[in-house]
Amino acid sequence: MMEEAESDSEPSIDWDSMTFSFTETDRMYIAKCKQGEDWQPGVMQDFQDLQLSPAAGVINYGQGLFEGMKARRAEDGRILLFRPELNARRAQEGSRRLGMAVVPEEMFLDAVHQVIHENERWIPPTGRGELYIRPLIFGSGAILGVAPAPEYTFLVYAVPVGPYFKGGMNPISLKVSDEYHRAAPGGSGGVKAIGNYAPGMMPSKNAKAEGYAEIIYLDAVHHRYVEEVGAANFFCVKDNVIYTPELTGTILPGITRLSTIELARSLGYQVLETKVDIEFAMGADEAFCAGTAAVISPIGSIEHGGKIATYCDGEVGAITKQLYDALSAIQEGRAPDPFGWTPSA
Ligand code: PLP
Ligand code: COI
Repeated sequence: MMEEAESDSEPSIDWDSMTFSFTETDRMYIAKCKQGEDWQPGVMQDFQDLQLSPAAGVINYGQGLFEGMKARRAEDGRILLFRPELNARRAQEGSRRLGMAVVPEEMFLDAVHQVIHENERWIPPTGRGELYIRPLIFGSGAILGVAPAPEYTFLVYAVPVGPYFKGGMNPISLKVSDEYHRAAPGGSGGVKAIGNYAPGMMPSKNAKAEGYAEIIYLDAVHHRYVEEVGAANFFCVKDNVIYTPELTGTILPGITRLSTIELARSLGYQVLETKVDIEFAMGADEAFCAGTAAVISPIGSIEHGGKIATYCDGEVGAITKQLYDALSAIQEGRAPDPFGWTPSA
């Protein structure tokens, strides 16, 4: 009998115990571009370590950004993406902010498709996880002065993942960070700059050691308005009205955030993008966070300044559940997609 090639075989992975963690897959995409020139055609290659100058802009000055998106296997065999053109456009905005070469939307989407197809065996079975796609754009050229690098790399890899927060749809406990802020007006909080994430690691680790799932950041000027939950956007519900922090440039314009707003409005809810005072949020009826990795994750409690707000007695709120069910049904291809959000890969 012929031996099955590794690339065709099912990976030895327990789909049901996956978490949001790294697994090496088969293939990745890489393209390069000299400052001021067009991108060279990208190539697919085996997943491998990079060769990088010690003086590369990204490792010296953090000139880089990442994106995050998911591919899901629908029941009927289609592989569905979720609004990938918005990731492409957000990466373009971020590249401009960080002084990097801009990847054309078509090139971005083509790379994502190639990576999905060449790692197809890593896409979890329907309903048992997702293939998380991680595009990176960074200054790979050597530079000593603080200035844009002379060369850029666009890379895409993919990893099969399970739930971002332990326990999936179990409501999470969060803690407001009283000491640290994530972003300040005029900074890079509104783009997915890699440098936005390292400063959150220590506060987040400390909160996790205290039993919280993540940190909630407040605005850096008044230390009063909710910004974000670690790596997801914040929502709360009061008297059937849905509130989410307005985009001021310091929070990430999440694609799940936008989709949740559009979906909730289509279901007849009033959604206000506004300043969300932490005191107001603590008195809300329901709270949840939204992101590609987190999808819609219910918040069970928030600690702030020694006080603890609990929501729905630790159960998932009715509106949170309705939005989660509606969004995930579209994302997984279990419900019609009237918005045209889920192109096939
Ligand atoms: N906020 C931050 C800081 C993030 O890193 C993410 C993750 O991408 C989000 C919010 C949610 O954005 P999206 O829904 O586009 O994944
Ligand atoms: C995402 O939701 O895609 C994120 O980027 C979150 C995170 C893992 C940083």
